[in-house]
Amino acid sequence: MKIGVFDSGVGGKSVVNAIEKALPELEIAYVTDKDNLPYGTKTPEQLIELVIPKLKQLEAAGCQAIVVACNTVTTTIIKEAREAIKIPIIAVEPMVKPACEMTKSKTIAVCATPTTLNSNRYKELLELNARHITVLEPDCSDWVYLIETKAADRSSIENRIVEVCEEGADVIVLGCTHYHWIEQEIKEIADKYGAKVIQPEAALVARLKRVLEQLP
Ligand code: DGL
Repeated sequence: MKIGVFDSGVGGKSVVNAIEKALPELEIAYVTDKDNLPYGTKTPEQLIELVIPKLKQLEAAGCQAIVVACNTVTTTIIKEAREAIKIPIIAVEPMVKPACEMTKSKTIAVCATPTTLNSNRYKELLELNARHITVLEPDCSDWVYLIETKAADRSSIENRIVEVCEEGADVIVLGCTHYHWIEQEIKEIADKYGAKVIQPEAALVARLKRVLEQLP
């Protein structure tokens, strides 16, 4: 069985690795759009223009489902994406609900791109889950660039994580798949404050399995 995975760049590769580990029998077509990186500062209109042709390309290549491994796309144009193709889409979005259920300090931090943080879907997630929770949104807008250029090191991320931990966040949400590549560094910093770091790969793989089992 063949599936597609799409992201603007290397964030998708982290998700591909997780899927390959759990479902080694799958054939995966992994498509990116590095010419138009970053997606995290684009408008919904720009994203529709860039993303829909890529999804159609994966559908035409015989994929039976597509994983949209990009929070930015999911939170802004998932409705348009689902309308544009006939095969199922499995998508990632910031894990606001689990974070709100986990937090004891009633303070969480969401690390995500500017477009995700400005999206209606993200605001809806806050409205549904975080009414009585303080949600910190550190400025991570340079991280995608740093990760794509392999220039992200501990010093370029540390202050953002230290700051939210000192403000009381005990759960940190990685709301951009690119940040999965610096999960270990973030965990090491957060660990000193007893804060947990969460990202959606395990949940996504579980959802993908369920969707594939239900395919005709
Ligand atoms: N990896 C994408 C996400 O999960 C965004 C990367 C970008 O800004 O291009 O949001």
